[in-house]
Amino acid sequence: MRDWRTPFAGTTLLAACVFFAGCNKPPSDTDTSGVIKVGEYASLTGSEATFGQSSHQGTALAIDDINAAGGVLGKKIQLITEDDQSQAGQPATVVRKLISSDGVVAILGEVASSRSLEAAPICQESKIPMVSPASTNPRVTEVGDYIFRVCFIDPFQGTVMANFTRKTLKLKTAAVLKDASSDYSVGLAKYFVAGFTADGGKIVAEENFSHGDKDFSAQLTAIKADNPDGIFVPGYYTEVGLIALQARQLGVMVPLFGGDGWESASLVPIGGKALEGCYFSTHYSPDDTSPVVRNFVKKFHDRYQETPDTMAALGYDSALILADAIKRAGSTDAAKIRDALAATRDFQGVTGKITIDANRNASKPAVILTIKDGQFQYVETVAP
Ligand code: PHE
Repeated sequence: MRDWRTPFAGTTLLAACVFFAGCNKPPSDTDTSGVIKVGEYASLTGSEATFGQSSHQGTALAIDDINAAGGVLGKKIQLITEDDQSQAGQPATVVRKLISSDGVVAILGEVASSRSLEAAPICQESKIPMVSPASTNPRVTEVGDYIFRVCFIDPFQGTVMANFTRKTLKLKTAAVLKDASSDYSVGLAKYFVAGFTADGGKIVAEENFSHGDKDFSAQLTAIKADNPDGIFVPGYYTEVGLIALQARQLGVMVPLFGGDGWESASLVPIGGKALEGCYFSTHYSPDDTSPVVRNFVKKFHDRYQETPDTMAALGYDSALILADAIKRAGSTDAAKIRDALAATRDFQGVTGKITIDANRNASKPAVILTIKDGQFQYVETVAP
């Protein structure tokens, strides 16, 4: 497993500890420490470790870029990163710590919707702006006026996959296998079903699993009996990989479909050939030939020797959007940063142009990818 502590993050964590040694009051924006503290919470370890590792790499790269160009308001941004271990209960703990003992002016995170939903009420209550890079469940930003995201939401993503399976692939029937313990999975399943049936498709089976499950044979056996043309699996890569494997072992050969939660460098290592010919929607493709994407992919590769995935690109954009808002606010006052975030218009990010709408969401195109010869391959871009 790769080391998530980039040299920069390691140094800032250490610097943060040294700085706070012996002082018990978090600095306010009137402090003269010369840095602007931004908090980040991410799943750097645990079941969705690649989500947090990737978003953190993108975020750290953006912060370093901003600092190399002089920082904002004449100060450097100091990123203070906390690992929530992909575990319920941890987001609340680490975000409380970032706000009350580190004194951050804003927070970046999380990728997974359930974890964003856990921490958002704390940010809202403390009036500290939170920007989620990648949480797509609509309820995340509904928590309050301090909660933002730089990605599209699941009513759109679910409709994109419903239209793709119905209109492009001409599926007549589908089954749904969702993670009933995940806000993301439950929501995305609902929007997919709505779109698929609205267009005349028929959902022949709906089965549930739970985060961390390893055996899906009961659900897949039930689905097999209903003989669907395809199965929609709005889950995260660890379970999706196992579901694909077990489906094929049970002789269920129809394609599986899903959303952004599939995207991980660990998906194919888990699911292997069982995933060939399956499709999922996501936010960006590193194969995009636009100069913004090419430049980002190169910079990221130079630093980490890896191709950036969607979470890396969204993590990068979330940090850029926040820095831009602090600049326009002309202040590190949290209420002013909030207002500036809300006023974000046509900001050119790696994942597209970002305009924050009245509900603090970003309306952006989705990308459909397929798995071919063990690689993610670009299929098409769908505009909102
Ligand atoms: N959209 C997912 C969620 O809300 C998280 C995710 C985003 C996962 C992008 C992978 C890529 O839970």
